[in-house]
Amino acid sequence: MTFIAARLNRIKPSPSSMAGQRARELRAAGRDIVGLTSGEPDFDTPPNVCEAVVRAMAASKTKYTDVGGTPELKAAISDKFRRDNELAYGPNEIIVGTGGKQIIFNALMCTVEAGDEVIVPAPYWVSYPDIALLADGTPVVVTCRPEDGFKLRAEDLERAITPRTRWLVLNAPNNPSGATYTHDELRALADVLLRHPHVWVMTDDIYEHVLYDGRRFATIAQVEPALKERTLTINGVSKAYAMTGWRLGYGGAPAPLVKAMVKLQSQSTSNASSISQAAALEALSGPQDFIAGRTRIFQERRDKVVALLNQMPGISCHRPEGAFYVFPSCAGVIGRQTPAGQVLASDNDFVLYLLEAQNLAVLQGEAYGLSPFFRISFATSMEKLEEGCRRLRLACEALR
Ligand SMILES: Cc1ncc(COP(=O)(O)O)c(C=O)c1O
Repeated sequence: MTFIAARLNRIKPSPSSMAGQRARELRAAGRDIVGLTSGEPDFDTPPNVCEAVVRAMAASKTKYTDVGGTPELKAAISDKFRRDNELAYGPNEIIVGTGGKQIIFNALMCTVEAGDEVIVPAPYWVSYPDIALLADGTPVVVTCRPEDGFKLRAEDLERAITPRTRWLVLNAPNNPSGATYTHDELRALADVLLRHPHVWVMTDDIYEHVLYDGRRFATIAQVEPALKERTLTINGVSKAYAMTGWRLGYGGAPAPLVKAMVKLQSQSTSNASSISQAAALEALSGPQDFIAGRTRIFQERRDKVVALLNQMPGISCHRPEGAFYVFPSCAGVIGRQTPAGQVLASDNDFVLYLLEAQNLAVLQGEAYGLSPFFRISFATSMEKLEEGCRRLRLACEALR
């Protein structure tokens, strides 16, 4: 008998949040840690956003707002969906929450009954399966193979759908693999979904603007308008505008789903911070051109890191198409022995070895549903990336 409810036993703490905390603790204890775990841009929130917030505070925009977001912000989100995604969402089809994460949480809590299935392609962002479990659902993990660019294939989606399927979760550009879907690839998935009208699609487009090599972004309700009536399109300001700490995300969906999510939010956190909403309003409606410049910098870092990784014994790395992570395979180091005599049996072992032997923090692929891989975030300075890669190479070269 414990005071903590059984549902908490179904989930684990977010591995990425925990890794960040562990790196901070080790640093505080005097260790010279290079941390490549953080999923947030190292850039600053744009100055126009900070200035708009000062104005909002001076104008006393510091009170409760409508639970689902201010009318001004919802109008800016509606404009954004039209401008970037050719999607028309009215104010009653938009909800603003405390980060994209809360939108996902709200949606699954509002729709998943015990035993309902949520299809999650792997590798996946760490939180989808655990939020589904909290909602009494059953995550159905579908592995996406490196040889398919870590993308969900239409035939694998078809096979995974059952009468209990509630949602398909799509996330592209993907955390951690960087996979993105072309218009035609989304078309193939949409064709499957059209045959299964009971399945809804949750598309997490939070890395929409972090896309490389001139690729163009597409989202599923845009590719197949007939799916819009059962799609939740999620986005937020964390990644594109370097606003992770402001905690502001949003979703567009059919009005009945939005109404349910607002009801749930009214009994949990209420409105997202009024000041963060003012910040997001400026981010979405102010200048957008700086985003391309930042993406170019991410692309240079990607190219550097991929080149360095592919020179290391036992490591091989694909070239991500978007987002700011690489997800290299460490299959070539599994079974090898560390200088301390430990045989590396998994990506978990490898990641711990990197931390112990080289003070290098990265994340194990197991947390993302695919092994043996690991994730490096390149949302950090070139200098730190080069130092991290130097340590990684030393660790790989020391294996027997
Ligand atoms: C794929 C994905 N979705 C959602 C989020 C959550 O973002 P937010 O800061 O808006 O809650 C993250 C954050 O890392 C992410 O990687």
